[in-house]
Amino acid sequence: MHVARTVAELRRWRAEQAGRSVGFVPTMGYLHDGHLALVRRARVENERVVVSIFVNPLQFGPEEDYERYPRDLERDLALLRAEGVDLVFAPAVAEMYPPGFATTVVVRGPVAERLEGAARPGHFRGVATVVARLLNLVQPQRAYFGWKDAQQVLVVQRLVSDLALPVAIVPVPTVREPDGLAMSSRNVYLDPEERQAAAALPRALFAALEQFQAGERAAEALRRTVRERLAGTPVRLEYVSVSDRESFEEVERVERPALLLVAAWVGTTRLIDNVPLDPAAP
Ligand code: PAJ
Repeated sequence: MHVARTVAELRRWRAEQAGRSVGFVPTMGYLHDGHLALVRRARVENERVVVSIFVNPLQFGPEEDYERYPRDLERDLALLRAEGVDLVFAPAVAEMYPPGFATTVVVRGPVAERLEGAARPGHFRGVATVVARLLNLVQPQRAYFGWKDAQQVLVVQRLVSDLALPVAIVPVPTVREPDGLAMSSRNVYLDPEERQAAAALPRALFAALEQFQAGERAAEALRRTVRERLAGTPVRLEYVSVSDRESFEEVERVERPALLLVAAWVGTTRLIDNVPLDPAAP
């Protein structure tokens, strides 16, 4: 497994792979089985697999956790070596954003401006800017993103479509802990009591999903179930939304593919999660 710390090293390796298919998994490191699900999917679908590890300062707000975001490069490299990854790109901030760097990629519209976009101003600009640069550096045929961050998937699909980037975006289902909590590098912020309490969040989503699968199509009924299931638990709901998969507008009745999305706080840790609502599914 090659480890490239610079753009020059990455470009040199990429030039040697001409004619081979390349799958790319961008990450911020501190890897867990959710990340590895993307890597495994990339491994079976491509001749070469590239993973980037870069905690991107542009996508963190000034009050957010950029400084204390968990990092463990040696452990990450061991996990990726075991998955048969070909190249890890782990640049320093000055390598990704050299002096003079002055371009921002801004995706507009509900997909980038509602929910996470409203709660975290500038977040999706940071994501779109780093993803555009990474895709241009790695030049993959396919890039893999987790449905865990559903809005991010839709923002990246918008970006790739609008800028006509020659890459297929492949979304991968959310990987969960045995009690249902979506895996996240940020789960390490939870103390044991909070960690246990956090499982109420996926339970609330699954209760609403069951209701949907039993035929409920009124979005407010689904949102109410999530609110009621979390009332009286330590999980403090920030938003619950039923958003259309295409327009990303709030939905009244689920007649087309939609997402049930939540953000919530457990102590000082912010969690997001979602489940797909597909009226065509059996
Ligand atoms: P990060 O949070 O490290 O996540 C990297 C990728 O792993 C994202 O596509 C994310 O959706 C996916 N992922 C995380 N947890 C998952 C889970 N439980 N199941 C399935 N997939 C999961 O997302 C980012 O980094 C950054 O915004 C990035 C795209 C790298 C740009 O900086």
